[in-house]
Amino acid sequence: MGELFDFHGHFLPNMDDGCKDPAESLEVLRQSAAQGVRTMVATPHFFSSRETVDSFLMRRQASYDALLQAMASKPDVPYPEILLGAEVAYRPNISRLPDLEKLCIANSKYLLLELPWSDWTNEMMREIQNISVVRGLIPILAHLDRYMERANRQKIQELFRMDLLVQVNAECFLSFSGRCTARKLLRYGSIDLLGSDCHNLTSRKPNLEAGFTALQKLSPQAFHHIKHASDALYDDLK
Ligand SMILES: [Fe+2]
Repeated sequence: MGELFDFHGHFLPNMDDGCKDPAESLEVLRQSAAQGVRTMVATPHFFSSRETVDSFLMRRQASYDALLQAMASKPDVPYPEILLGAEVAYRPNISRLPDLEKLCIANSKYLLLELPWSDWTNEMMREIQNISVVRGLIPILAHLDRYMERANRQKIQELFRMDLLVQVNAECFLSFSGRCTARKLLRYGSIDLLGSDCHNLTSRKPNLEAGFTALQKLSPQAFHHIKHASDALYDDLK
């Protein structure tokens, strides 16, 4: 399977609806490392309606510091490398948000963007385009698999034509209905990245290795594309 990159996770302690304390975070990291995950991107939820970018970044740093301290207390345990990012919730005018760049992964141009669950509008499509064209950033669409039942076919086609990356959750490959969704997605275009979107040790636990294993059986071609795209993105981030 080789080294895996997890581009979506809520494992920073006491930051959002993910891990509640450093002990839970450490176990999520340990289990991920045991699955062959080399690098994990921390992507706590960011809602511009609730908080400024600076306030979010200060909270994120405090949470990360607490995690580093906990990791240092158990130096013999192998942990994945951690990169800091955010899962930025879409809202109108998000492309004009001051300091949007600061929410990109590891000071890169890659921004994990969570689309709304309600109807996708033309305005939303323009905003995504503007994040790329006006702000010069590269959106990564978070867990596109989770929208497939409701999403408008034409809008999905439009998204696949944009200059962006598509991230899918590993869980998508772990159920029959999820695999049907994945096949549907692959008919539109490529899936670029996988993420565990892990939140805890129970209902949403680290599952990247299982996801990759199931994906390899489902579509060796998609598996190789994702491995290649993940390596390329990681090289870009470093
Ligand atoms: Fe998430």
